[in-house]
Amino acid sequence: MAHVAFIGLGVMGYPMAGHLQHHGHQVTVYNRTTAKAQQWAEQHGGRWAPTPAAAACDAELVFVCVGNDDDLRSVLLGDNGAFAGMAKGAMVVDHTTASADVAREMAAAASELGLGFVDAPVSGGQAGAENGVLTVMIGGEQAQFDVAKPVIDSFARSAVLMGPVGSGQLTKMVNQICIAGVVQGLAEGVHFAQKAGLDGAKVFEVIGKGAAQSWQMDNRHATMLEGQFDFGFAVDWMRKDLDIALTEARRNGAQLPLTALVDQFYAEVQKLGGNRWDTSSLKARLK
Ligand SMILES: NC(=O)c1ccc[n+]([C@@H]2O[C@H](COP(=O)([O-])OP(=O)(O)OC[C@H]3O[C@@H](n4cnc5c(N)ncnc54)[C@H](OP(=O)(O)O)[C@@H]3O)[C@@H](O)[C@H]2O)c1
Repeated sequence: MAHVAFIGLGVMGYPMAGHLQHHGHQVTVYNRTTAKAQQWAEQHGGRWAPTPAAAACDAELVFVCVGNDDDLRSVLLGDNGAFAGMAKGAMVVDHTTASADVAREMAAAASELGLGFVDAPVSGGQAGAENGVLTVMIGGEQAQFDVAKPVIDSFARSAVLMGPVGSGQLTKMVNQICIAGVVQGLAEGVHFAQKAGLDGAKVFEVIGKGAAQSWQMDNRHATMLEGQFDFGFAVDWMRKDLDIALTEARRNGAQLPLTALVDQFYAEVQKLGGNRWDTSSLKARLK
């Protein structure tokens, strides 16, 4: 069992840190909004600290799950950042969905201090975090992976080393590229079924058992038919993720015409007021 820190108790981080504590690890949490850290400590019986550095000072592993590249820099670097508190040999496991660039930048900064860093974005959403069944895609060295994996298993169904640092984020980009196209296809299918006067529920019960089946179809067709979007994975987060993927594609030469188009459709959803709506709200554009 390990001494660990967890930085960032959002929708994802709060339950992930809880699973670590319940698997017998000794967890100290930090959250920018202190009340949430205090609530977590009361609920789960772990400790909380007032800064990332203080949370990280006796941790072998420092888990992070914040919003984006800049948030990651702000909790790791500087006098109160986690790197300043960590003992030599300790390692950061970063679950933020961020760029591969910032992963390489943080790994280099960690290495200069005698620390480790792996990028470890997740898939599986809020339900995956709450049920401890996330999929984790990891970039880093084999030796670092071997140390982190048994602890990550507290909240993951699968944790796989994808290659050197940055490879976890690149894999997550592939995940988001695939989701963008599938959700737009499903939105158009739901829209067409309604315009055609079909029984939507019946349509998806039937075709959901055939070649068109997908996680999105299984889990989102019913709410899309009803026009309910006030839950799930936010459009603002998806646009952040697609921007990361499109930026990387400009560099590596990958052609992502559908991803770029769907990103613009999400911009229209934001204009409809859908910043916090679930990604299935692509359907809301189609009247
Ligand atoms: N939600 C999902 O379904 C899902 C699925 C897969 C991946 N992800 C990714 O996982 C990450 C976290 O997502 P989430 O849904 O948990 O987000 P969230 O609920 O908005 O939580 C974000 C967390 O980061 C903290 N934070 C943000 N900026 C910070 C800063 N500059 N300094 C310190 N703390 C900061 C927030 O602190 P406060 O409490 O003070 O605001 C909060 O604890 C994102 O990169 C997201 O893309 C999310």
